[in-house]
Amino acid sequence: MCGVGLSDGRVDRLHSLPKECSVLDTTQLIDDRFRVCQSQLTSRGQAHVLRFWDDLSTQERSKLLDELEAVPWDVLDELIPTHIENQPEVATPSDLTPATVFPCEPPTERMAEYERAVEVGEEKLRAGQVAAMTVAGGQGSRLGFDGPKGMYPVTPVGSYTLFDLFAQMVAAAQLRYETTIPWCVMTSETNHAQTVAYFESKDWFGLSPDDVFLFSQQMLPAFDLNGRLIMASRFGLALAPNGHGGSIKALVDSGTLAKLRACGVTLISYFQIDNPLVKPFEPLGIGLHVTTGSEMAIKVVPKVDDLERVGNVCCDQGRVRVVEYSDFPEAFATSRDADGKRRFDAGNSAIHLFNVDFVDRIAGRTFQMPYRRAVKVVPYVDSVGEVVVPTEPNAVKLETFVFDVLPLANNPLVLEIDRCEEFSPVKNASGSDSLATAHRDLIARSYRWLALAGVTLPWTADHTPAAEVMILPSFAIDAAGVSNRVAEIPAIVAGDQVLLK
Ligand code: UTP
Repeated sequence: MCGVGLSDGRVDRLHSLPKECSVLDTTQLIDDRFRVCQSQLTSRGQAHVLRFWDDLSTQERSKLLDELEAVPWDVLDELIPTHIENQPEVATPSDLTPATVFPCEPPTERMAEYERAVEVGEEKLRAGQVAAMTVAGGQGSRLGFDGPKGMYPVTPVGSYTLFDLFAQMVAAAQLRYETTIPWCVMTSETNHAQTVAYFESKDWFGLSPDDVFLFSQQMLPAFDLNGRLIMASRFGLALAPNGHGGSIKALVDSGTLAKLRACGVTLISYFQIDNPLVKPFEPLGIGLHVTTGSEMAIKVVPKVDDLERVGNVCCDQGRVRVVEYSDFPEAFATSRDADGKRRFDAGNSAIHLFNVDFVDRIAGRTFQMPYRRAVKVVPYVDSVGEVVVPTEPNAVKLETFVFDVLPLANNPLVLEIDRCEEFSPVKNASGSDSLATAHRDLIARSYRWLALAGVTLPWTADHTPAAEVMILPSFAIDAAGVSNRVAEIPAIVAGDQVLLK
């Protein structure tokens, strides 16, 4: 069964009332709930969110109460002074060391180890023990696309969306390894319904709906810079998803982890919605993860410059962790080793492998992932009920990040990947990490795979691609896949737009 329900545990009490409940009972129940919320809010100086109460319909009151009752005050009471009214102190240890990284290409003496890992990875895939997981609950505010980011057309030729590409990757790997690969997609309340409707409209991309698990993460209220709840409407709080770190709990709470276990899955290949180059079923990483006894893997890219805005994968007192670029002291970022090479060169690509047992273990603990403070523009209703769209950031959202569980993992694998092959995120509307750079990188990778297969290609005088070529995952998921289908590739000349599918 595909999981297409919200999983934040909230109950619509009004709709769940027994039929025989009279209007009076309903009103009484709402009044009772109101009084409890009012007292909780008043004691916290948050009663302004009830200012439109008298003018609300029964449905609107019920919706507002549902949201207020779901506010996790036990967590927020502590965070308001430290993370909302103030910028939290981030203590970056002064004795960080670079993490030990498995190189992308093995040195000669490690060839056999890597070859064995590829075999192990392939066996794991063939055994049906690997699931894919896409985190797609974010709001994609930097891109500014109206809709779930997965519906963003991303290919340089054709209008294939990010979801199209990932679905094709799953289908292609299922074919190659003659197995079933469950695909988990984490959404949030902001985009769940649209995502489900999209998958349905695409007939689940030809995948079996029974093997696709859509589930939602938890939402948290946004606050103004003085720590007061923000209203998005007269009867609704401004809510935001609780960060990709919410995926750990959501996997468990939604029942998705249990479903994966029931399918025989032991390993989750995790990636973000914005990386069209990702290779979730690449056997080397899966194999090394298994052979090294890793509980969680992180794939890293060598940084393009010292201050690149990626997390730095480091070692802190023997545990591997990611330090965000904003918290990474410049002295570390610019430091060099004896050979003049960048000392801290492992950039977080946000591609991970998780053991199912590890997710279960950490989700069951009282461990609380640290919250990060993000200051963003959040539209709100003012004191007379008018919607205001601010031009400057006015609100704090709290998020947890999935990489913060890395220090809890035993034997975490840190594996370098080739950026040109696997990493080109679409974050911004223009400039770096945008659609333009993703197009450039998709075409460059298609060219590389074709060249490796011996296909003749047109080049410009500057040795850049003179045709726009897009290899869809339905055609091939790697260079080896292209080599098997060379006979199907048409002659490509300068100026062509070629879609291989
Ligand atoms: P980003 O950090 O790029 O955030 O998320 P975003 O919300 O997509 O975009 P901006 O910052 O508003 O521009 C990285 C990945 O984590 C997912 C996103 O969907 C993306 O795949 N994510 C982020 C979630 O699934 N849930 C969240 O609460 C936040």
